[in-house]
Amino acid sequence: MLVSKFSKSVFRCLAAIILLSATQAGAHPGHEHERDILTDRDLSLDQCAFAGQWPPGVGQQFVPQAPDSELQSIMSQIDPTRIQAIIEKLVSFGTRHTESSQTDPVRGIGAARDWIAEQMRGFAEASEGRMVITTPSYIQQPVPDQIVNTTNITNILATIKGSVDPNRVYIVSGHYDSRVTNLLNNIDDAPGADDDGSGVAISMELARILATHIPRATVVLAAVAGEEQGLFGSTFMAQQFFEAGADVQGMFTNDIVGSSTADDGTKDPNDIRLFAQGIPSTDSPALASETVSIGGENDSPARELGRFVAEVGTNDDTEMTVRVIYRADRFLRGGDHEPFLALGFPAARFTEPNENFAHQHQDVRVVDGVQFGDLTEFVDFEFTARAGRVNAAALWSLAQAPGTPRNVTIDISVLTNNSTLTWVAGSDVDDDNLAGFEIVWRSTIEPFWTHTIPVGLVNKMTIQLSKDNAIMAVRAVGKNGFKSPAAYPFPTG
Ligand SMILES: *[C@@H]1O[C@H](CO)[C@@H](O)[C@H](O)[C@H]1NC(C)=O
Ligand SMILES: *[C@@H]1O[C@H](CO)[C@@H](O)[C@H](O)[C@H]1NC(C)=O
Ligand SMILES: *[C@@H]1O[C@H](CO)[C@@H](O)[C@H](O)[C@H]1NC(C)=O
Ligand SMILES: *[C@@H]1O[C@H](CO)[C@@H](O)[C@H](O)[C@H]1NC(C)=O
Ligand SMILES: *[C@@H]1O[C@H](CO)[C@@H](O)[C@H](O)[C@H]1NC(C)=O
Ligand SMILES: [Zn+2]
Repeated sequence: MLVSKFSKSVFRCLAAIILLSATQAGAHPGHEHERDILTDRDLSLDQCAFAGQWPPGVGQQFVPQAPDSELQSIMSQIDPTRIQAIIEKLVSFGTRHTESSQTDPVRGIGAARDWIAEQMRGFAEASEGRMVITTPSYIQQPVPDQIVNTTNITNILATIKGSVDPNRVYIVSGHYDSRVTNLLNNIDDAPGADDDGSGVAISMELARILATHIPRATVVLAAVAGEEQGLFGSTFMAQQFFEAGADVQGMFTNDIVGSSTADDGTKDPNDIRLFAQGIPSTDSPALASETVSIGGENDSPARELGRFVAEVGTNDDTEMTVRVIYRADRFLRGGDHEPFLALGFPAARFTEPNENFAHQHQDVRVVDGVQFGDLTEFVDFEFTARAGRVNAAALWSLAQAPGTPRNVTIDISVLTNNSTLTWVAGSDVDDDNLAGFEIVWRSTIEPFWTHTIPVGLVNKMTIQLSKDNAIMAVRAVGKNGFKSPAAYPFPTG
């Protein structure tokens, strides 16, 4: 089988590279035997390098865009002690179950909703009118096994309208409702410190900090209800943007972003997962089939958004590595990004690297000396702050860059070793920040872009690289240095 032979050779390449670096360090004479085995299999590092770099081609090595000083300042203001205070306050409402009291001033989701909205209004005061707080709501009818009684679902949105491109929207959201073991239990304490006090804390910290900044495109910091009950608040939010004709070019839900400790104690304090869907589930069968036929299944808008976040969110300022997962969500689970995906908006989900299921969706109790429940004591506020920095990097870089190119095509009218791409600018407005475009590419077996070809302020370019052998896409470049996510071409001609 070709596939298994290939994966074995990649594995052996990796082994050879690791062994060579070990021997170069000079400290592992005991590995001679293993080196001999590898030599017997006739593998050289040159072959490995060739395997990694094929096809050879045009352009420069892809270098991740770095944060500017304004973004560095935004990231540095994210404060773990404020995150702690927010999470402790949210937990103090006892339960934030979507069907808990909406009128009790101290206990239940209504008190939590009013506190979040009041805090957001306080942050907005520093914005000189740029940040507007809204609390859109609707009445959800009962749904068997999910919503028992007619329920008011209220979202809280802090919106900073883009100074240049207000219809282009980027959203960071968390859910403020919580639950225990029984989804319908609206009585018992449901602290929801990690799920999803952590996500709400990130929305609130970013609202506080961004209130004094002026994004070029619109940014929204949201806290939504009804997630546990069936993504109700997020579905309503997505629908509202859709009906308003908003051009949502990126949405992130932060859901369970408060701890890096696995149930066996393993810690990955500098990793965050980002779940990014492949072929959109909204594609028609014909479009999905075409996508597969051209090898585009790994280049959906959500996945290009994921690559973008890995690019801007993995650095010394965030102190995080963004682990993109090529999957819409975890098995058996869903999240608030999904209603956005369902309406055709690129969206993705941040979640901590290791989940401890004893701390999620659990009655607060001790069993055999083991504490169950989503308690504040299990949250790592420094980790949550780093997750917040990744969000800040993604959100700000998106809002400051020109829009993602649209209508990207690749000419397939003739057989040629060259590739001709066309595209249009990704914005409804004439963005004076648009410096030009880049064609980015990678080998079909690479997960992330490896090369970039600056092509200037044009809408068409032919490059000397076979479309049969590489994956290409187009991204916009701002005069301010910020670059958009890439957009994958579909055939024309
Ligand atoms: C639904 O309403 C009934 C009647 O008011 C009440 O007894 C019950 O506790 C409510 N259940 C939930 C889950 O809100
Ligand atoms: C739902 O609750 C919010 C917040 O209290 C309130 O402003 C709104 O009027 C309510 N919506 C409906 C339809 O009753
Ligand atoms: C881009 O594609 C859409 C959908 O196919 C089409 O309606 C629109 O006219 C195109 N825009 C440009 C500028 O080509
Ligand atoms: C395409 O490239 C191959 C290999 O470099 C070459 O043999 C062939 O002539 C080229 N075809 C065209 C149409 O340029
Ligand atoms: C391929 O592109 C190169 C560079 O743009 C150009 O010189 C060459 O003529 C092109 N070949 C074809 C067959 O289009
Ligand atoms: Zn959650």
